[in-house]
Amino acid sequence: MCGIIGYNGFRDANKVLIDGLKRLEYRGYDSSGISVIDKKQQIFKEVGEIKELEKNLPDFKGSIGVSHTRWSTHGAVTKANAHPHLSTNKKIAVVHNGIIENFQKLRENLTKKGYKFLSNTDSEVLAHLIEDNYKGNLQKAIFNALKKVEGYYAIVVTSTDEPDKIVGARKDSPLVVGVGDNENFLASDITAFLKYTNRVIYLEDKELCVITKKDITIYDENYKTVDKEINLIDWDISDAEKSGFAHFMLKEIYDQPDTVNNVLRGRVSEVDQYIEFAEKVEKELKPDLDSIHIIACGTSFYSGLVAKYMIEKIADIPVSVELSSEYRYFGTKKENSLVIAITQSGETLDTLAALKEAKNSGCQTLAITNVIGSTVTRLADAYILTQSGPEIGVAATKTFTSQIIILFLVALKLAIKKGTITSDELYNYILNVKELPKQIRQVLEKSDEIEKIAETLKHAHSVFFIGRGINYPIALEGALKLKEISYIHAEGFAAGELKHGPFALLTKETPVIAIATKDFTYDKILANIGEVKARGPQVIAIADETDTEIEKHADFVLRYPTNQTILTSIPITVTLQLLAYHVANLRGCSIDKPRNLAKSVTVE
Ligand code: G6P
Repeated sequence: MCGIIGYNGFRDANKVLIDGLKRLEYRGYDSSGISVIDKKQQIFKEVGEIKELEKNLPDFKGSIGVSHTRWSTHGAVTKANAHPHLSTNKKIAVVHNGIIENFQKLRENLTKKGYKFLSNTDSEVLAHLIEDNYKGNLQKAIFNALKKVEGYYAIVVTSTDEPDKIVGARKDSPLVVGVGDNENFLASDITAFLKYTNRVIYLEDKELCVITKKDITIYDENYKTVDKEINLIDWDISDAEKSGFAHFMLKEIYDQPDTVNNVLRGRVSEVDQYIEFAEKVEKELKPDLDSIHIIACGTSFYSGLVAKYMIEKIADIPVSVELSSEYRYFGTKKENSLVIAITQSGETLDTLAALKEAKNSGCQTLAITNVIGSTVTRLADAYILTQSGPEIGVAATKTFTSQIIILFLVALKLAIKKGTITSDELYNYILNVKELPKQIRQVLEKSDEIEKIAETLKHAHSVFFIGRGINYPIALEGALKLKEISYIHAEGFAAGELKHGPFALLTKETPVIAIATKDFTYDKILANIGEVKARGPQVIAIADETDTEIEKHADFVLRYPTNQTILTSIPITVTLQLLAYHVANLRGCSIDKPRNLAKSVTVE
């Protein structure tokens, strides 16, 4: 993980780098550091959040520098292990995101040659290795050094011998170039420099990039210069700021009426009866697909589970959903099947690796991601963007609902192609999906009511979430949100499974959140609520607004607006997001940056 940023321009580098780090903090926040060139490398590191670094940072003069926010993999959380790392001669500063797998061997060799190591990290070898290869040209030294490196990396490097340039390189870890006027940037993610420029160049694996104040030169893996396209990003800086909300997560929950509209914009029409994706995507959505395999991690995995219900029901194609880390090694990769990788960031290493395996086995691949230019968009045969704007809170919210809606549209598209849907059904589905922004707003208006229920949960040690059918993965996601940000133990279960084990854990101190939808499973879920109540716990039901029965069964009821069952997963999800948020807030937790978690996991 980790976030890196380099700046070369006319502004105060300290300010640009600290500001950039704050925007990258979701990538890791156990320690951070900065180095700015003013004849020598002026370097400062701190343990803890970026605000600690900012508070104590000396007033370095200079307008060229690099910085890093760390999520530790090798080496404890200490100042010495924080980046940047300096070469032995103190001229070269390196920040790194990734893992150098052969670092032990490189370290031994460099130590024998007299290089002095000050940290326990794998990253520090890069600084000494670059010094060892330096013969008057920084990019050439980095190019030669990286030939000896196994593993993956995004690095940004400066040297006092060539104080006008910054060099970056990447392999399997994200790094983008921000193109300004008389200033240029290199960072893990666009949000780090979005305040200054929305012009971006995406680097490919093994490319190397040299930025001066005025010029950008990119070298391919054979050290030949290449011309690259400059892309314009339509994200607004306000999307990456809290806009008055107490937390990014809360803002992102409230963004959802807009993000759902964005997902739908230009892609659906009930009047002309179409679902439309880019041509490349359409080609992947073949009507004669034998099966679909969805691969993803974390919250994205749960949106895959939701999609299974949608695609199997609407398009009648069998769907398997596997965790990327498992599929990578054990998944079946069949011809005439489509592999769909779902990843908000487009950079989750397990998902990228699983996708590569699928491609190598000849599967067709489609990615669903929120980040244009991310690695997955270059790896998959085609991709669909969720168009949710940057998501900063570590716990995914708006991108989850956008992923589900994209997958719903995929189900409709396949159903149209296969002829498994009538035009009346299609008309109704599209009308109903277009109702969602309004329905999400109705849920958001209940925030105070949800907060009151959160009061009853704030001291719980363990909370169960139950649901049936499509609401089973929604229960899993509800539990994940609660555990991620409130640190309360929470588990989601298929309601029918409670009696096959989890009952043993039920006491009256274990509140149960039951998702009840008015469909053929309704009586079953009421029976499950009865079984739970008989063992003492309080039940909070999440129920349809037209449900007149539920009050007799549950202790508390939160209502969601009526829709087709397949789509109620969206307002129900928003209810559970707000519930998790309020519980965590009442407990005083670090909502946007939960302990031990990072937004994007770019290590295995
Ligand atoms: C991390 C985040 C999760 C996220 C998962 C997958 O674990 O903390 O919130 O769901 O990665 O991320 P992706 O970017 O692939 O969707």
